[in-house]
Amino acid sequence: MKGIFITMEGPDGSGKTTQIELLKKYLESKGYDIIITREPGGTAISEAIRKIILNPEYSEMSHMTELLLYASARAQLVNQVIKPALEQGKAVICDRFVESSAVYQGIGRGLGVETVYEVNSYALGNVKPELTIFMDLEAEEGIKRKKNQAELDRMEMEDLSFHKRVVEGYRQLAGLYPERIVSINATLPIDEIHSMIIQEVEKRFF
Ligand code: TMP
Repeated sequence: MKGIFITMEGPDGSGKTTQIELLKKYLESKGYDIIITREPGGTAISEAIRKIILNPEYSEMSHMTELLLYASARAQLVNQVIKPALEQGKAVICDRFVESSAVYQGIGRGLGVETVYEVNSYALGNVKPELTIFMDLEAEEGIKRKKNQAELDRMEMEDLSFHKRVVEGYRQLAGLYPERIVSINATLPIDEIHSMIIQEVEKRFF
């Protein structure tokens, strides 16, 4: 079997986790071994870096430090988990990946999308998602959904204008790479979204 690499993107609270679980079941039914992972995280080192990045006490973190920490966590996850899994013909579903850096650091923080992809080229090597699902949800709605949950992390504490830039950034990126990034209206019912994702997966992989 050929490895499959799918990433799930979107603002906080857009329902990525639910859809990842449903997609996992579907890919299992197709006979795939599935690896589900997340960014930043997915390895002991990357989870340790995640704690630093998201710690609300580190309000002094520079934007470049933030970009490089996300890229470091990613380099470890790619080398330790994603690359080996793809080489073994597994299906990897990752909750966020380099497109999160492109929009949060590139557009939200204003570092520039090109700079972000350049820095991340060292972390990725030749590993690239074949399909990226963007769960499109207005920033206000995502924040509302999240605020009902536990305490906010350092990124979630950013103001509404930051989160609006992030959503706009995703939309721009999806417009630039329509063959790879598929936008889905995240306000639709869960099972409808799942069917749309399956359609995209079938088109590309089966
Ligand atoms: P999570 O809450 O979805 O686990 O993601 C952690 C936060 O980190 C989320 O607010 C998005 C942000 N993020 C970036 O800013 N850049 C990145 O490259 C990644 C992977 C996440």
